[in-house]
Amino acid sequence: MDTPNLLCSFFFFFSLFLGHQQHVVGGSSVFLSGFGPKMMFVFGDSYADTGNNKKTLASSWKIPYGITFPGKPAGRFSDGRVLTDYVAGYLRVKTPIPYRWRKQLAGRVKYGMNFAYGGTGVFDTLVPEPNMSTQIDFLQQLLNDSVYSKRSLKTSVALVSLAGNDYSNYLATNGSAAGFPAFIGSVVNQLKVNLKRIHDSGVRKIAVSALQPLGCLPRSTALFAFEQCNGTENMLVELHNQLLVQAVNDLDKQTNSSSFFVLDIYNAFWDVFNQKQARQVSPTFENPFEPCCAGVSAAFSCGSVDENGVKKYTVCWNPKLRFFWDTVHPTQEGWRAVYSTPVLQNNLKQIW
Ligand SMILES: *[C@@H]1O[C@H](CO)[C@@H](O)[C@H](O)[C@H]1NC(C)=O
Ligand SMILES: *[C@@H]1O[C@H](CO)[C@@H](O)[C@H](O)[C@H]1NC(C)=O
Ligand SMILES: *[C@@H]1O[C@H](CO)[C@@H](O)[C@H](O)[C@H]1NC(C)=O
Ligand SMILES: *[C@@H]1O[C@H](CO)[C@@H](O)[C@H](O)[C@H]1NC(C)=O
Ligand SMILES: *[C@@H]1O[C@H](CO)[C@@H](O)[C@H](O)[C@H]1NC(C)=O
Repeated sequence: MDTPNLLCSFFFFFSLFLGHQQHVVGGSSVFLSGFGPKMMFVFGDSYADTGNNKKTLASSWKIPYGITFPGKPAGRFSDGRVLTDYVAGYLRVKTPIPYRWRKQLAGRVKYGMNFAYGGTGVFDTLVPEPNMSTQIDFLQQLLNDSVYSKRSLKTSVALVSLAGNDYSNYLATNGSAAGFPAFIGSVVNQLKVNLKRIHDSGVRKIAVSALQPLGCLPRSTALFAFEQCNGTENMLVELHNQLLVQAVNDLDKQTNSSSFFVLDIYNAFWDVFNQKQARQVSPTFENPFEPCCAGVSAAFSCGSVDENGVKKYTVCWNPKLRFFWDTVHPTQEGWRAVYSTPVLQNNLKQIW
């Protein structure tokens, strides 16, 4: 895979934890204090990034990314809106500006900020972008510089996306299959440390995404003619998600709060794949495991051009009929369907 395409495949893993929602401590729906979030802070990777990656590096700045919204490439890893946009819409706050544009878009700093960088994880990955610890440092720097006050953070929420780049990196480097479960433990432990830091900086509520079914991403299903998921990968995802639920419950206990909760992206993806709930809110997707935009061969990815500028990818005729945009990221319509599932709508209630 050529370097410019790395980000594309390094997206993230979210999680699953079927049957565990009832253990998610989070104060469920009864937090009626008149709290209305005014700001949103976002940490993580390409499932949440809205334009932090360097233009020269990321596929998200290449045609045909962004063709549905805003109509041209704008740094989102999709044809249009991503998870961040839907969660902001739910909160009725403006989509927070990317950290990288905070000077140019200073007027919108008051709605919060997006520190997520496509390709990153809790640990360093193959991309030279800031890991999650550094992203949290950025927020603390802004507090230190009085761009935000700790007091104002009391009306803020955080969205944290960890969609699997640590695991892609583990597999791409010297990671062994036998060491995988232990590595998953260390990823979730580091994530827990990060979530605690976000809480301690004053953010009121922190939503962290579970890992999506990695084995169902087109990069995995391609081996099965897009007809079946890689069950081995999905089992590892389940472990991650179980540990994540435990971590979140621990954090609530440790802080004597209901500040933390999980967005069960895993089951939301499955609900959409199974077309159970999706029909009312979105078109029936064509084969959900087949991406809209793909390289003409394994050497190319969505947005690739050759040295003469000739396109080396194909795009489906209607992105609205596809769940996946590229080999790892959902389309706007895919994210809309995920957001609209009862499981995610229920999870989101905990934000109040
Ligand atoms: C995150 O990146 C910083 C800066 O490169 C590095 O010092 C730190 O060790 C990294 N953190 C983790 C948990 O890998
Ligand atoms: C906070 O700001 C002070 C100066 O106002 C500076 O000395 C210090 O290094 C800063 N700390 C961080 C973590 O940025
Ligand atoms: C790869 O091996 C080196 C040396 O044993 C170790 O320091 C490093 O953490 C390993 N990397 C991964 C991703 O396991
Ligand atoms: C499923 O994924 C694992 C881990 O990435 C990989 O080693 C294995 O070859 C995959 N299985 C198939 C049948 O592709
Ligand atoms: C937790 O918070 C509640 C409500 O603020 C309080 O009544 C309770 O004593 C606290 N428990 C601990 C262990 O701090």
